[in-house]
Amino acid sequence: GKGNHRHFMHKEIFEQPIVIAQTLGRYVDPGAGTVTLPDLPLPAGDLRRIIMVACGTAHYAAMVGKYWLESLARLPVEVDIASEFRYRDPVLGDGDLVVVISQSGETADTLAALRHAKGAGIPVAAIVNVPTSTIAREADVRLDTHAGPEIGVASTKAFTCQLAVLACLAVGLAAARGTLTAAEETDAVQRLEHLPAMMARMLVDEDAIAALARDISGARDAFFVGRGTLYPLALEGALKLKEISYIHAEGYAGGELKHGPIALIDAGVPIIGLAPDGDLFGKSWSNLEEIMARQGHVYLFTDADAPADTLSGHVPMPATDPLTAPIAYALPMQLLAYHTAVEKGTDVDQPRNLAKSVTVE
Ligand code: F6R
Repeated sequence: GKGNHRHFMHKEIFEQPIVIAQTLGRYVDPGAGTVTLPDLPLPAGDLRRIIMVACGTAHYAAMVGKYWLESLARLPVEVDIASEFRYRDPVLGDGDLVVVISQSGETADTLAALRHAKGAGIPVAAIVNVPTSTIAREADVRLDTHAGPEIGVASTKAFTCQLAVLACLAVGLAAARGTLTAAEETDAVQRLEHLPAMMARMLVDEDAIAALARDISGARDAFFVGRGTLYPLALEGALKLKEISYIHAEGYAGGELKHGPIALIDAGVPIIGLAPDGDLFGKSWSNLEEIMARQGHVYLFTDADAPADTLSGHVPMPATDPLTAPIAYALPMQLLAYHTAVEKGTDVDQPRNLAKSVTVE
């Protein structure tokens, strides 16, 4: 049941501290400060490339995974949409590992991508939430997410658990390949271990986000902007908003705004900026300043001190790093979509035209 929550989506958003701890618990040894992965079909030393394939929200998780696997494990990573991968005759070869990502484990295009890879003799690992699903059964190795049943059509806790598994995969492969020292591995493990408590603290106060949702609920269009691991989160924030509130939303990498979409900016288009403090903050801030100079209303999610007088809204975030940021920033993206949908009175758990499991292509 929904317990004291009005919708399954709300319940599932609030379950995240527990299911992230559960999922991390399967891969991380906090005492030793190490990550343990199941045996992959290819030894870490023979891996030449990872190709991640998924649909929708799971595809955005894969995009985050690419940033982590490249920066930590120094492995080349390609990310593809399952419906494109299966029909575009991809070049596959020795040293490739295909990683499919799916909550349901039944998505037709993702399953077809898995079969395509196996047919070409390429080993497949599946990051999957339903261990009895077809994708779970057909993969060479399973990396389970332990999100528990997800009922709301809009994926929430399954997404952050996919990210948690991908973070462990990146740290574990980096340690095995020698691109992270033992001390760096332990440091990464400790940062991941802080996530459940950080997420629980973030969920205590959803009023600021509900107020922001009231502000944007009248908009016809909205933009989400991020850089680095927050770029895929901008895409995910936009997808969540469009699928349950029916507001047209787009996610952009900060540096891309001036290559076209900035033409659409006016006072009627709210811009959600995702900009954790760190190396990329200055770049993100100057992208947002360009928007504000064109009368755009910017709502900023950050832990940095940003000049609040030019912003239309500012949601303070906890301090993060590139490994923890996308998981932490997923929460306010989900809550923003949720409260906007509630404000508009749409069917949060059963949005129009959508099915929980897409078993036809
Ligand atoms: C969005 C959403 C979908 C799914 C996609 C893949 O909130 O839920 O985009 O992520 O249909 O589904 P799975 O992960 O079951 O393969």
